[in-house]
Amino acid sequence: MEKEIQELVQMAKVAAEKAYAPYSKFKIGAALLTSSGKMYSGCNVENASYGLSICAEQVAIVKAVSSGEIKFKIMVIFTDTADLTPPCGACRQVVAEFNPRIEMILVNKKGEMKALNMDKLLVEPFGLNRGRSLKY
Ligand code: THU
Repeated sequence: MEKEIQELVQMAKVAAEKAYAPYSKFKIGAALLTSSGKMYSGCNVENASYGLSICAEQVAIVKAVSSGEIKFKIMVIFTDTADLTPPCGACRQVVAEFNPRIEMILVNKKGEMKALNMDKLLVEPFGLNRGRSLKY
């Protein structure tokens, strides 16, 4: 396994442990690799007003963007479950904003992995910058 991916998986696992999920008890960790080689992680952060809960993928994106990074190559999503966890529709849209062809790697507790390109997860995404998207 590529070293960077191994590191991303480890970061996503650590992030999942930090998830604030007292309502769903479903802990998710995400880790993002930027084109410049930096890594950012995120976990889901729930709220008593359930609809205000924030997904792990979006936390990772917000941390990276607010640190000045907007070019992303890989996102790993880890859950401590037997099943792999594909990202929700909202997260697909938020992640695809920055790279509609980002490699999404799903990892479960057994260490099984499935890599899916975002163009398979989100077909024909909505975007106002069609044709002028970020170059990779
Ligand atoms: N969740 C994520 O963090 N990412 C997803 O892609 C789907 C759902 C979180 C939201 C909530 O805290 C918990 O998982 C159960 O829906």
